[in-house]
Amino acid sequence: MTIIVTGGAGFIGSNFIFYMLKAHPDYRIVCLDKLTYAGNLSTLSGVMEQKNFRFVKLDICDREGVFGLFREEKPDIVVNFAAESHVDRSIDDPGVFLQTNVIGTSVLLDACRAFGTGRFHQVSTDEVYGDLPLDRPDLFFTEQTPIHASSPYSASKASADLLVMAYHRTYGLPATISRCSNTYGPYHFPEKLIPLMIANCLNDRPLPVYGQGLNVRDWLYVEDHCRAIDLIIHKGRAGEVYNVGGHNEMRNIDIVKLICRELGKPESLITYVTDRKGHDMRYAIDPTKIHDELGWLPVTKFADGIKKTIRWYLDNRDWWQDIISGEYTKYYEKMYGNRGKA
Ligand code: NAD
Ligand code: DAU
Repeated sequence: MTIIVTGGAGFIGSNFIFYMLKAHPDYRIVCLDKLTYAGNLSTLSGVMEQKNFRFVKLDICDREGVFGLFREEKPDIVVNFAAESHVDRSIDDPGVFLQTNVIGTSVLLDACRAFGTGRFHQVSTDEVYGDLPLDRPDLFFTEQTPIHASSPYSASKASADLLVMAYHRTYGLPATISRCSNTYGPYHFPEKLIPLMIANCLNDRPLPVYGQGLNVRDWLYVEDHCRAIDLIIHKGRAGEVYNVGGHNEMRNIDIVKLICRELGKPESLITYVTDRKGHDMRYAIDPTKIHDELGWLPVTKFADGIKKTIRWYLDNRDWWQDIISGEYTKYYEKMYGNRGKA
């Protein structure tokens, strides 16, 4: 069995590769990644020498390159993690999001058609459903919830989902989609809420909370996300969407305060800054379908997962300090430098 994993030098993709190499030691895993600012080859150093692993630096938009790789590897399964993934960057400059997330996905779909790939799996997001109001805790996203994207990022992911479904219906491509909630854990790029707050706490820098910090996200430990995808690609039905989430809703401000407590840092570091444009209020997944059909349930409780994650950032300072000392400093200045107080 050969699996092409795109975006495998990023956060969830790398964790998925580690998970799959352990869970299926007889599989060949080929990682295709462009190594954008979010891709980090050092993350994969522990598996680089493994005989059943191959890394290929490639852009999913490069049709010729992608077709060449499919010709060589003849993958049984393709799992597409490759994407521009940060909402704030998409608000600042949407172009590359359309290019990678929409055009790139279409190139992969064409390659799967051309080479008769047995399964294409699109790693999508709960953000395609838009958001839920804070005063209706009874509402959840199900697979029937209409697509209602808010940001250029989520609109690009929703567009990719529509293409995947169209290729299934029109060409019979055996495709599945997972729409997962906010994922956290090791190797999470420090532009995202949890790793950014951990890194800033450890450097005694201000903790920039957007608006009042009342927005709610539904957090899932990365290993649980990886296991869900493993189940879907093997047992999920082609043409189906599976929502993935662990009923673990938390307000941003409570997460930030918890990180302060865990690291023994004062809450006075918290700074309320100008809100994100179009900021989604609440995400909440109903995972009944994946539970009933595939037996998936999250294993890691948030209280344990956040401790493990903080421990990982304490033990792997080189990994994130390298990142935040490079190009990231310009990004940080641009995003937070002139951001007024909320
Ligand atoms: P990430 O930004 O950490 O990693 C993205 C990876 O894709 C990087 O390695 C990058 O180099 C690579 N990449 C980007 N453009 C590429 C291109 N044109 N060709 C080849 N490779 C390219 O992202 P992540 O947080 O690991 O998210 C992975 C996927 O999961 C994304 O599709 C995202 O939409 C989805 N997702 C993320 C979350 C989350 O909470 N992080 C939740 C649900 C779904
Ligand atoms: O729900 C799944 C999505 O989760 C994925 O599709 C995206 O790829 C992933 O980035 C994530 O999107 P969010 O926008 O929810 O994640 P982010 O970590 O950027 O922000 C989480 C919340 O924290 C959000 O309400 C904005 C807020 N926030 C974020 C940052 C970076 C802050 O208050 N301050 C910050 O500095």
